[in-house]
Amino acid sequence: MKRLAGKTALITGGARGIGRAFAEAYVREGARVAIADIDFEGAQAAAEKLGGGSAAVRLDVTDQASIEQAAARTVADLGRIDILINNAAIFTAAPVSEITRNDYDCAFAVNVAGTLFTLQAVARHMIERGEGGKIINMASQAGRRGEPLVAVYCATKAAVISLTQSAGLNLIRHGINVNAISPGVVEGEHWDGVDALFAKHEGKAPGQKKQEVAQAVPYGRIGRGEDLTGMAVFLASDEAEYVVAQTYNVDGGQWMS
Ligand SMILES: NC(=O)c1ccc[n+]([C@@H]2O[C@H](COP(=O)([O-])OP(=O)(O)OC[C@H]3O[C@@H](n4cnc5c(N)ncnc54)[C@H](O)[C@@H]3O)[C@@H](O)[C@H]2O)c1
Repeated sequence: MKRLAGKTALITGGARGIGRAFAEAYVREGARVAIADIDFEGAQAAAEKLGGGSAAVRLDVTDQASIEQAAARTVADLGRIDILINNAAIFTAAPVSEITRNDYDCAFAVNVAGTLFTLQAVARHMIERGEGGKIINMASQAGRRGEPLVAVYCATKAAVISLTQSAGLNLIRHGINVNAISPGVVEGEHWDGVDALFAKHEGKAPGQKKQEVAQAVPYGRIGRGEDLTGMAVFLASDEAEYVVAQTYNVDGGQWMS
């Protein structure tokens, strides 16, 4: 029995990385998926590869009109939205003395405002339909504590954990479960960019930071997208009905909370 049979899902930032792994897992579990990304060509390529009635949707989560159009497009293409994964995010790193207003504004616009207003648009649709739904936000171990070079990104992910709590408490009365997943360090294009920023600010050789963080994971290796898909399927499934406003660490033992 497929655990998401007959469900439809909108996954932001699904053109690559973790979002793409989620899309693949959801299709395997019987869902139809809309991959929404600012990289529309990437979303199209991912949707084409996925098959299973998947759709690609153009979305910039920093633009309110784009969020509303993407939600409407997904409903037009898939009929409705049962599941939202708020996965799109950007990373930034700098010593506190070098943080720029622009880096701050961009990170909060994508990671926090993007998460909240995409959640809001989809929650409105779910409330109108009256059949509940599942919303999963992507947090991070970075949101559990500060890091010397990562003040802004850490703050955005702490905000995602907090939004998950408040939205979860507010929306459960409509049968909408809002929860979050908090990964540790996960292989992918994202980490190549992270590694380059640490190389710049810590004077490390390219690849060195990635190797160091991978070695520090208690499980013994860096995470992979597929390490997170079990939790993403569970939180989207009927089995998670009584799970409300929680953030789950799926990080190989990096963090305990
Ligand atoms: N990779 C990790 O180590 C790690 C660790 C902890 C948490 N996370 C979180 O998991 C999620 C996925 O991470 P990832 O590694 O796959 O990231 P990624 O950078 O590989 O993918 C992010 C996707 O978001 C899209 N995107 C960026 N800005 C957008 C915008 N304005 N509108 C719409 N789409 C936009 C990008 O085009 C990309 O496809 C993120 O929320 C990230 O913060 C990742």
